[in-house]
Amino acid sequence: MQEIEMQELTKDKLEEAIEVFRLGGWDDTSLLYVKAEMTAFLNGDISGYIRAKFITAVVDGRIIGVAAWAPSMCAFAVYELSWATVLPEWRRRGVNTRMLQDRLKRIRQSHGPEPFVVIVYTWDNPMYAKTGFSCLKPPIRREDPYTGKCLLVAHF
Ligand SMILES: CC(C)(COP(=O)(O)OP(=O)(O)OC[C@H]1O[C@@H](n2cnc3c(N)ncnc32)[C@H](O)[C@@H]1OP(=O)(O)O)[C@@H](O)C(=O)NCCC(=O)NCCS
Repeated sequence: MQEIEMQELTKDKLEEAIEVFRLGGWDDTSLLYVKAEMTAFLNGDISGYIRAKFITAVVDGRIIGVAAWAPSMCAFAVYELSWATVLPEWRRRGVNTRMLQDRLKRIRQSHGPEPFVVIVYTWDNPMYAKTGFSCLKPPIRREDPYTGKCLLVAHF
């Protein structure tokens, strides 16, 4: 197995990162939003302004996966995971698992020793359960009838 490195997204890799989403089949609206979010991230922090931070999974200098994490506007102890995608030919080989662990490590480093909560709205799967996430089921419907996704929550 080739070595997969986790790296923060840099300006010179913006178009390559967008291409990973395009090749992954994301629609034009999603591409518009993710590019805007990445551009804001790459333009640098405005003190007090909340925005997503992007990481990339890189093999031999090529981006094979992208994902984001962000402090939530809900509260300072809440963080959100978003924008996870892996190139089709690299799926089911643990890349997203690595990106999840890397983002949780970065949240821990940023947040410090106090407890925090992480949320993600996606399809439940054993990777999240093993990492401590539980699916918040709505009282009536079992899951979102349109997407099959649910809000996953973990306390650290
Ligand atoms: C979802 C996605 C990011 C997963 O990336 P990945 O690198 O293949 O994930 P991993 O190999 O780390 O798999 C982690 C776990 O996720 C689950 N999983 C991943 N792909 C799955 C699939 N197609 N069906 C069911 N479970 C899946 C499994 O539990 C898997 O663990 P296992 O392989 O030990 O069973 C990737 O399939 C992708 O880019 N999909 C398109 C974009 C997308 O849907 N992003 C999420 C939007 S919320």
